[in-house]
Amino acid sequence: MYNYVTLPPEQIEYTEVASKDDLPVGERLFLEIDANNIVIINLAGHYFAVNDVCTHDDGPLGDGELDGYEIVCPRHGARFDIRSGKVTALPAVVDIPAYPVRISNGMIELGLPRQ
Ligand code: FES
Repeated sequence: MYNYVTLPPEQIEYTEVASKDDLPVGERLFLEIDANNIVIINLAGHYFAVNDVCTHDDGPLGDGELDGYEIVCPRHGARFDIRSGKVTALPAVVDIPAYPVRISNGMIELGLPRQ
């Protein structure tokens, strides 16, 4: 697992995934890219993207409640920081990937590590 937000820009490739208008404040966008389930969250006008899979038992995570910058797994309550993917509460012990997101020309672009 890796926090891709920290990668230098030359190691990231951005892909348009939606119009900014499609993801209002407080909403979430679920994507499947290269067999990865990813959720993009618009939190008060800031965009965060993490894997939509909990590392505790592979449950879907993206619908979990938000508590500040933490998303709470709906199944057993593990928590992850949506800024970094870092696990912050048991029963999960492994971080989830976090991806950079940017807005360009009114489009949401998701950053994935270059292959
Ligand atoms: S599957 Fe997420 S806490 Fe168990």
